[in-house]
Parts: sequence; C-alpha cells; structure tokens
Amino acid sequence: MTIPLTDKFNRPIRDLRISVIDKCNFRCPYCMPAEIFGADYNFLSKQELLSNDEIVRLAGLFAQIGVSKFRLTGGEPLLRPNLPALVARLTQIPGVDDLALTTNGYYLPKMSHLLKDAGLHRLTISLDSLDEEVFEVMNGRKSSVQRVLAGLAVAEADGFYPIKINCVVKRGVNDHTIVDLARRFKGTGHIVRFIEYMDVGNLNGWKMDDVVTAEEIIRRIDLEMPLEPVPPNYPGEVANRFRYLDGEGEIGLIASVSQPFCGGCTRARLSGAGEYYTCLFAHKGTDLRGPLRAGASDEEMLDLIGGVWRRRTDRYSELRTSFTRLPAKGAEMYRLGG
Ligand code: GTP
Ligand code: 5AD
Ligand code: SF4
Ligand code: SF4
Repeated sequence: MTIPLTDKFNRPIRDLRISVIDKCNFRCPYCMPAEIFGADYNFLSKQELLSNDEIVRLAGLFAQIGVSKFRLTGGEPLLRPNLPALVARLTQIPGVDDLALTTNGYYLPKMSHLLKDAGLHRLTISLDSLDEEVFEVMNGRKSSVQRVLAGLAVAEADGFYPIKINCVVKRGVNDHTIVDLARRFKGTGHIVRFIEYMDVGNLNGWKMDDVVTAEEIIRRIDLEMPLEPVPPNYPGEVANRFRYLDGEGEIGLIASVSQPFCGGCTRARLSGAGEYYTCLFAHKGTDLRGPLRAGASDEEMLDLIGGVWRRRTDRYSELRTSFTRLPAKGAEMYRLGG
C-alpha cells in the first residue's frame, strides 16, 4: 500500500537518486578535482557500500512512501560490480515506473546492452564539450570525446532513445563550445541539457563569475538556431525545455543557480554508504545502513525514512540567492551523484 507523504512545504517524495558507488574514472575539476582525489584517496570499501540486497530493500521502502522514479548515479555507476543485476531487481519493485541512470559514458560500449537487457528504462550521458582539448580539461583524465560518442552510439543501437546529454557550463572553460554541442544533436532526437555550474560541495572553488546563466546560454544558441519555450513534461521538472522553431528537436536548461526550483523539489538521495539526504546541499544525511544492518524491521525503517521527509524544510538554492555570504556547504557531488 502506498501512503502519500509530504514535507513541511507540502512537497511529496517522488524521486530517489541512488548513488551506487563513490569512485569515478574521471576527475572533472567541478566534482572530483584530481589534486584532491589522488591515487591514495580513501573511497568506500565493499563492506561500507550498501549491497544489492540493501539497496533493493531500501528502494522498496521508499516506493512504499511515494517514490516511483529512481535514478542510479555515482561517482560513475558503471564501475559498480553487478550493476545489471541490481537494475533487474529494481525494475521489479511495485510502483517503479521510471528507472534511469546517469553515466559519463566511458564504459557504455561494454555495458549498454547488459543494462538494456536488465530492463533499464532511460540513460543520461554527461558530455561537456565536443572539442577534445576542452573536454580533457572538463574531465581531468584525458578521456576522449570519441570514446563517449562511441558509447552513445552503442546505447542508441541497443534501443536507448532518446538519450539526454548533460553539459555543465563553466565560463571561460567550455562556454565557447555550447553552440557546437547543441548543433551536433539537433535533429537526432537526443536532448542536450545545459547545466549551470553549481556551488555543490566544498572542493571545486566555485565562484559566481564562473556561472553562465541559462538565459545567456539560450541567447547564444537562439542566435544561430531559433528556439521557443515548451511547457514541462511533469510538475517540478528540473530542466526548462526549449524547442527549435524548425521542428528539429529540443534542449533543456538546468538553471539551479539563477532560477532555483526548490518549490517543486520531490527528490531524495541515497549515498553509496546508505546516508539519506533530503537536499543536494544538505550538511548531513541520515544513516540508514546502521539500522538496516542492526536488523530494523520494515515498520521501523519506514518510520525513520518517512519521519525525516515529514520534517524536511530544505530549499538551499532558493535561500542562496538571498545570502550575502555563502554558508558552509554540505556533501560532495561525487557521493551524491548530482
Ligand atoms: P529527468 O528525469 O530526465 O527529468 O532528469 P532530471 O531532470 O532529474 O535530470 P538529471 O537527473 O540528469 O539531473 C541533471 C542535473 O541537474 C544534475 O546532475 C544536477 O546537476 C541538477 N539537479 C538535479 N536535481 C537537482 C536538485 O534537486 N537540485 C539542484 N540544485 N540541482 C539538481
Ligand atoms: N555543477 C553542476 N553540475 C554538476 N555535476 C557534477 N558536479 C556539478 C556541479 N558542480 C553534474 C555532472 C553530471 C551529473 C552527475 O552532475 O555533469 O551531469
Ligand atoms: Fe565522475 Fe561525473 Fe564527477 Fe565527472 S561529474 S568526476 S564523471 S562523477
Ligand atoms: Fe531540492 Fe535542495 Fe536542489 Fe532545492 S537545492 S531543488 S531543495 S535538492
């Protein structure tokens, strides 16, 4: 039975973003700067990570309080052993009508068909530029654009369609290549989403000057390929949609800095170690792994999970616009997966 549940601002819980691993083969400076995440960095051990059984049990409990949409993230989720088995089990949970995954695309050539066979519904691939030199700077690991595009082609051949392509825009680094990226996918059916660079975590040295606002991004693309706004697919959609006037598809803009969307935020997040966060910018999560491993019953876990959501008051991005000085920040993106 589903018991609908809302937080202090009357927002239901609808989405659960599950980080299945904190490791990544890339070192995007805005997420896992290479100078901090070196060879001796202490990532979660196998024992510390939630097991497939634990993730499936928690996902089932979240579904019971209203979650119907799941997204697997990382780190890089394709680095998790047994990921297809986890996907297959998550699709079986009653009430799950959307199961998506966000990846950097590097391992898609070997993983895509396994994920399709396991029943994964949708795929989002991060790709910050089509220019090899710019992309190297953005991913910090000399991974090539060609490799990611090859992954995308394999995924498309396996039947993932449309694919969303996420591009974080950082001023002076990749913003001169955004029109190229939009042009490359125009007419393919795939949907490029440009994301305002966010101040998430404490490691990326974020400053407002680095942000190119959604408005400016739209203006630049619209100059060459005219656009018009489109209504959201569902209430509280993160991306603002725009379509090309010539009918050749659409793009999305994720304006979390300049136009915060906390009012409709129905997203909960689960870290690889089983911490439950009610905001991407929260200082602290609630440990679910401890009680789970101590033998808590489903009823006890539901009380814990539901109680945290009922008390939720998070709206960091909306508050930030009124801060004169940024407060100390919370969890890191590589642990929460965006
Ligand atoms: P769909 O299910 O396809 O609509 O995906 P989505 O719009 O939820 O997009 P995705 O999960 O790919 O998120 C894209 C990016 O938006 C993330 O990587 C984050 O950078 C940002 N984002 C997503 N959710 C939130 C949120 O709740 N708050 C903030 N501030 N940013 C978010
Ligand atoms: N600002 C905006 N988006 C970010 N992502 C990671 N770090 C940031 C940040 N600081 C995005 C990645 C990817 C998703 C997992 O989160 O580009 O698309
Ligand atoms: Fe890895 Fe994604 Fe973070 Fe880049 S943004 S370092 S690909 S987890
Ligand atoms: Fe949701 Fe927090 Fe993002 Fe606002 S800042 S949209 S409350 S995750």
